[in-house]
Amino acid sequence: MAENVYIPKLAKIIEIKDEVEGARAIRTFRTQFLEDGFTHDCGQCAMLSIFGKGESMISISSSPLEKDYLQFSILKSGRVTSSIHALQEGDILGVRGPYGNSFPIKKWKGKNLIFIGGGIGLAPIWSVLQTALKHKENYGKLSLFYGARTSKDIVYKEDLEEIRKDIAVHLSIDQEEPDWNEFVGFVPVNVLDKKPSPKDAIAITCGPPIMIKFVITNLEALGFKDDQIYTTVENKMKCGIGKCGRCNIGNHYVCKDGPVYSWAELKKLPQEY
Ligand SMILES: Cc1cc2nc3c(=O)[nH]c(=O)nc-3n(C[C@H](O)[C@H](O)[C@H](O)COP(=O)(O)OP(=O)(O)OC[C@H]3O[C@@H](n4cnc5c(N)ncnc54)[C@H](O)[C@@H]3O)c2cc1C
Ligand code: FES
Repeated sequence: MAENVYIPKLAKIIEIKDEVEGARAIRTFRTQFLEDGFTHDCGQCAMLSIFGKGESMISISSSPLEKDYLQFSILKSGRVTSSIHALQEGDILGVRGPYGNSFPIKKWKGKNLIFIGGGIGLAPIWSVLQTALKHKENYGKLSLFYGARTSKDIVYKEDLEEIRKDIAVHLSIDQEEPDWNEFVGFVPVNVLDKKPSPKDAIAITCGPPIMIKFVITNLEALGFKDDQIYTTVENKMKCGIGKCGRCNIGNHYVCKDGPVYSWAELKKLPQEY
């Protein structure tokens, strides 16, 4: 009998990290499968499930080169994500996937990579950034722009300090705070302020749709071409495998054909995302 594609694999939570507290809490979960057989590429997602609560599509934020665990960073927003936040280390999660396409990092050899994230949008970027960092010899200069509403909303704080030893990290928050010494303002404005060069560069941006829109406008103003800009689309998803039609843009299924798109590809689709 054919395998039922909706049956999740079981994974044990081996580590939970509180990233952000409060109403928009974010936690990072590291998981290990109870059985082998799950591999992924940078930018892919997985459908996480809790029995009796439901499923949510979440980006895999660990690098495929990391073989000891699979990592997810999750913003508490509704029923499923709140139930995942209530789990403890040692508890079991359902994981279906991996789903979707991936960032074409093999094509980016020799390029300068500029990562631009906002809020929880650092999660899909993290997988590709960590992969590029592990093989720095394959790329030109790496840099990261990352912004959050306030300094308390910044995720991966310790890791950001660590990667600062290797690459330029440009942090921003939306409004002034007494002890904040870095950029104040929205991420797209920080990008325009620092003026990354489009020469031999690829920009990868993930975050709230409004941020992505203005990041792309500002990258274009700096001279980036459509095929130098990559982003992810996070339409609502149910099946994750191109069957239910929940996530489509025109005749295109974001869960299967996306979530990673170049701006050149995205511009050809109906403007309904
Ligand atoms: C490809 C993809 C990757 C994603 N990666 C991550 C990730 O790494 N971390 C993370 O925290 N979240 C991620 N999301 C969003 C996540 O799937 C939703 O927040 C989650 O499914 C909400 O489920 P819920 O039952 O907790 O909330 P619900 O009760 O279903 O909804 C709560 C609120 O979240 C909004 N919401 C629901 N689904 C989505 C969605 N797909 N996109 C945006 N808003 C939504 C609802 O409109 C509502 O306002 C991703 C979504 C997609 C499609
Ligand atoms: S989520 Fe069902 S078709 Fe994409």
